[in-house]
Amino acid sequence: MNILATAIRGFEEYSAYEAELLGCRAVETRQARVVLEGDYSCVYVLNNFARTVNKILLLLSRETVQNLDDIYNKALSIDYSFIKPDQSFAVRSERSGIHEFTSLDIARVVGQAIIDSYQRSTGKILKVNLDEPDVEIEADLIGNELFISINTTGNGLNFREYRIYNHPSSLKPTLASSLIIMSQWEGSSFIDPFTGGATIPIEAALYAKSSLVKPSGKFLYKKLSFYDDKAEEEALKKIGKKFDLKDKIVGVEISRKHFTGALKNVSAANLGESIDIILGDSIKIDFQRKFKFLVSNPPYGIRSGRKEKVLKIYELFVKRMDKILEDKARGVMITTEYKKLTELLGERGYKVLKVNTGLHGKLWVGAVLFSV
Ligand SMILES: C[S@@+](CC[C@H](N)C(=O)[O-])C[C@H]1O[C@@H](n2cnc3c(N)ncnc32)[C@H](O)[C@@H]1O
Repeated sequence: MNILATAIRGFEEYSAYEAELLGCRAVETRQARVVLEGDYSCVYVLNNFARTVNKILLLLSRETVQNLDDIYNKALSIDYSFIKPDQSFAVRSERSGIHEFTSLDIARVVGQAIIDSYQRSTGKILKVNLDEPDVEIEADLIGNELFISINTTGNGLNFREYRIYNHPSSLKPTLASSLIIMSQWEGSSFIDPFTGGATIPIEAALYAKSSLVKPSGKFLYKKLSFYDDKAEEEALKKIGKKFDLKDKIVGVEISRKHFTGALKNVSAANLGESIDIILGDSIKIDFQRKFKFLVSNPPYGIRSGRKEKVLKIYELFVKRMDKILEDKARGVMITTEYKKLTELLGERGYKVLKVNTGLHGKLWVGAVLFSV
């Protein structure tokens, strides 16, 4: 069975790695997607434990198409008997590339093909419910490749239950987790010196413990005909914690408002015993100890319009890092200003090991992996 996991564009390799850790075979990475092979246990395990992906989709068809007629015909040829006659459905669509039609056109055409195909094989007309469908079909066009699949997740794993405080520049939790995997952290001391709402410390602690992802919405796979609660329980039981935390994870935030928000998120995630949030300035604090891992998302200066000020913060922070990081420590920092950051790190003698560029929302960002 082919499964598609939607990942952060540019960071797909970490989702492939995580899926393999969870026992599902990654066969290909594609723009913002990872193609996996596995059985239904993968659907249960990925939805509940994968921290770097947003949706888990069961692939029904993957075909090259040229126009809307092609899309209709490909969608018409699929067997939709997995939808029960009394279930409602909806089609969602994403599109990337240049086309003469929109994603709404794709959703409309595929929706019609599903109704026609179902009526032809069963004589029944399926109900459409765009707000709360029982079955959600995804029809995504990437270039001229059409992926039609069943959404087993629902709204997406990005919407974490613990996020009570929404920082205005918060990192997607799935991207935070990708950065943690990129750093190759294994449980030793860890700091996020620009922590905002504490997404990175929280994701790190939950990753170490292999805690359930707990998205805020309901899982759609529970409504699908293959769903078997005993098999789900068996599959989830097999996943154990990754490593013990050797120290409390530290997050530092300069703004009292975000600091208070970070505390709320940490408490909602039930991680007060694993994370310390400090109110202070990372450029000035004397931590009286050093850290082995740093993963952070410093300000970009886009919202405030003060890019020069932000670049100065980078410069001062990189200068200060020898007081914060142990010998042979590793760090990952993600920013839109990744070229400048790479330059600053090089000037101070840090080894830049890798730069991953990708899309965070509408922003083109780079994650810089470096070592001391
Ligand atoms: C891009 S945000 C981090 C968002 C965070 N990753 C999240 O998901 O909520 C950067 C944060 O760094 C904080 N900051 C800026 N300068 C700082 C400094 N010198 N020391 C500590 N925090 C700082 C800002 O107040 C802001 O909340």
